Order: sequence, then C-alpha cells, then structure tokens
Amino acid sequence: MNIDDVIRNRRSIRKYKEKPLTKEQIVEILDAGNRAPSAKNRVQWRFHVFQGEAKAKLIQVCRAGIEKLPEIPLMASTANSYNIMEQAPVVILVLQTCEWGGISAEIQSVSAAIQNMLLKAYSMGLGTVWINDVLFVENAILASLDFEKEESEFKEMLLDFGQKAGFEIGYSGPLIAAIALGYPDENPKRDPRKSVEEVTIWHE
Ligand SMILES: Cc1cc2nc3c(=O)[nH]c(=O)nc-3n(C[C@H](O)[C@H](O)[C@H](O)COP(=O)(O)O)c2cc1C
Repeated sequence: MNIDDVIRNRRSIRKYKEKPLTKEQIVEILDAGNRAPSAKNRVQWRFHVFQGEAKAKLIQVCRAGIEKLPEIPLMASTANSYNIMEQAPVVILVLQTCEWGGISAEIQSVSAAIQNMLLKAYSMGLGTVWINDVLFVENAILASLDFEKEESEFKEMLLDFGQKAGFEIGYSGPLIAAIALGYPDENPKRDPRKSVEEVTIWHE
C-alpha cells in the first residue's frame, strides 16, 4: 500500500472484530509511533498498552470517573467512546512527558506519533480511532496507573520566561489520548472534507 492510499483511505473505526492482535503487530505499530519527529528529538511520548483484564479495568475506571463529574454537553460522546474501547481488543493510552507544558511542544510531538500509529495500523489492515474522551477522566486514569509524572527540567525556566514575556504558560496533564486498535468490522465512507482552498491562505 503506498503512502497516498494510506492517507486517503484511513478512516476512524468504531466497530471491531474479536480477533486478537499479536504482540509483534502491536510492537510494529508502536515502533511507527516511536519514529515520529519530536521537538528537539526528545521523544516526549509514552505508550501504555491495555488488553484483556487490564483493558476491562481501564474502562471501568473511565465509566466510574465520568459518573462523578458534572455533566456538560461535550461529554455526551464519552459513553460511546468507552464502548468502542471496550470492543476493541487493544487500547493504547498515549501520554506526554510534560517537559514544556504550556508551549505545547510535546503535544505536537505526541500527536505526530499518534498519527504515525494510525497510518501504520491501516497499512497493516487494522483499524483505529483516536479518542480524547479519556481526558475528562484523566485524574482517575492516572491514579489507576500508579503514574509518576516525569519532572520537567525546563519548568522553572519556562515559567520565569512566561512571566517576563507576558505569556500564559500553563501545564497540561500527561494524558493526550487513547487509540482503540483492532481488526475493523465496518467500512465507513469518507465524510465530506473542506477543500484545500477552504483551509489555505497563500502568502506570496
Ligand atoms: C484529537 C482527536 C480526538 C478525537 N476524539 C475522539 C473521541 O473521543 N471519540 C471518537 O469516537 N472519535 C474521536 N476522534 C475521531 C474523529 O471523530 C475523526 O477523526 C473525525 O471524525 C474524522 O473522521 P476520520 O478519522 O474517519 O477521517 C478524535 C480525533 C482526533 C484527531
């Protein structure tokens, strides 16, 4: 499959077959993520792979976490997203190292890694969907992971810089998204997209 086929034809998959993936398949996808560009080549992504019991527990944590929150309209999709994660044989939580927090460098690096994984999975005949509905329950997930935040060596420097330069530098949490992964059990049609003209301004 060439790169154009992969980019044009990848779609979010929200129905999966029960068929499990091999560890080799999962590692191949993680390896594609790990080859993404990253700010200052500092490789700010961390991957947590969930299957079986551990995945069931993660979903329980998500559902219990959401019950405790005040409802807002944006959360309406969470139940569906957690159902998708339940059905997919593999869920990869993608975290960032929080080195530069408020200036978003690591979010950009981690997003590149996620996209590499989605494209690689598609090229292997697998389906994925990028899920950020896990962010509503980030604290509950991190508590369940025994997660230790990697201390930023740049935090003081950036906070000081922000104060002097008048920037609002805030520290975002380590969780970026989940990827549901498995053999697709649907073949969704492409949604209409804005054209390149609609999203581009040429400066000449
Ligand atoms: C940052 C981001 C967050 C997303 N979060 C969710 C989500 O929580 N649940 C979900 O079902 N899809 C989620 N999606 C998938 C989008 O809905 C999907 O990419 C979009 O509708 C375009 O469809 P396509 O991926 O098939 O091209 C997310 C996508 C991105 C890039």
